[in-house]
Amino acid sequence: MFNKLSLHISVVVTVLLCLISSLISSADENPIPRLLVDTYRFEFGEVEEGIELKHTFKLTNGGTGLLLLNGAHSSCGCTVPKLTVNKLKPGESTDLLVVVDTAMKQGRLIKTVSVLSNDPSSPNLKLYLSMNVKNPHVGLSEEGRAKIFTSDKCNSCHVAKGNGLFGKDLYEADCAMCHGKQGLGAIGPQLLGPYENSAFKNGMETIASNGSPTHRSMPGFLVDAGGPLSKQQIDSILKYLADVSKQRYYPGKLMPKK
Ligand code: HEC
Ligand code: HEC
Repeated sequence: MFNKLSLHISVVVTVLLCLISSLISSADENPIPRLLVDTYRFEFGEVEEGIELKHTFKLTNGGTGLLLLNGAHSSCGCTVPKLTVNKLKPGESTDLLVVVDTAMKQGRLIKTVSVLSNDPSSPNLKLYLSMNVKNPHVGLSEEGRAKIFTSDKCNSCHVAKGNGLFGKDLYEADCAMCHGKQGLGAIGPQLLGPYENSAFKNGMETIASNGSPTHRSMPGFLVDAGGPLSKQQIDSILKYLADVSKQRYYPGKLMPKK
């Protein structure tokens, strides 16, 4: 009886020992890469609009296996990560440079960069860059509103992108920020309507060219009125708005998008 029991125990112990030793040896045979980073979040603080910001993250292989870096991506064209190596041996490090362009940005922003690797515990590691782009509109006076053509601080967003353009492209660069896509309205009124009616068309042309007599946010865009646009450019915008109106505005009301 006693002998049988001790036989059982020794069998169980042997099996356990085998299991443990096979686990240890399999860990040796399967070294694991680990992607470590010096910081997951970087704060730029308060920054100007229209500049390039740079930050370098330090990536390290803190594991036992070869780390394969399969690329770094960002969802925004304004944020470009540059990875120069694609492999790190255990203990090796590399720099990941990220450039963020604040052109046309305002206020609080958080940009994400994904680093793809063969680290089984985080194959898609997310890094965050945050910043506060100074809002050029805070505290704008009535007088100040008219400066979108004359001040360098305002030009970059409000008119520079429209230089030399016509029609839809010009509308999207110079007008859409206030009048919405396709002239459907935003902080400024919608601009669609019966352009085949010359009184209507002339009224729209007068305000686009010379500005609103009552509203500082709508300065005149024509060169003669101090704006950046030629008569041909203003005409090309009105032509674009007339074309959109044909599809989207039918006697007196907006049509649903086709
Ligand atoms: C970062 C890009 C950017 C810069 C720089 C910029 N604006 Fe704007 N602005 C916009 C956008 C986009 C809008 C559309 C409304 C909004 O989102 O606030 C706008 C709207 C406006 C409006 C209409 C809103 C209102 O309050 O009546 C005025 C006026 C204006 N901007 C003036 C200026 C002036 C003056 C400057 C320079 C001191 C300037 N902007 C600089 C992007 C910019
Ligand atoms: C900074 C903001 C802003 C920009 C940029 C802007 N507008 Fe305006 N626009 C306004 C506002 C606000 C009004 C309303 C003015 C009023 O109430 O008198 C307006 C009015 C108008 C009107 C008169 C609409 C009506 O029904 O009476 C026309 C036409 C117009 N804008 C055309 C344009 C065109 C074309 C561009 C681009 C070349 C442009 N706007 C760019 C803000 C803007």
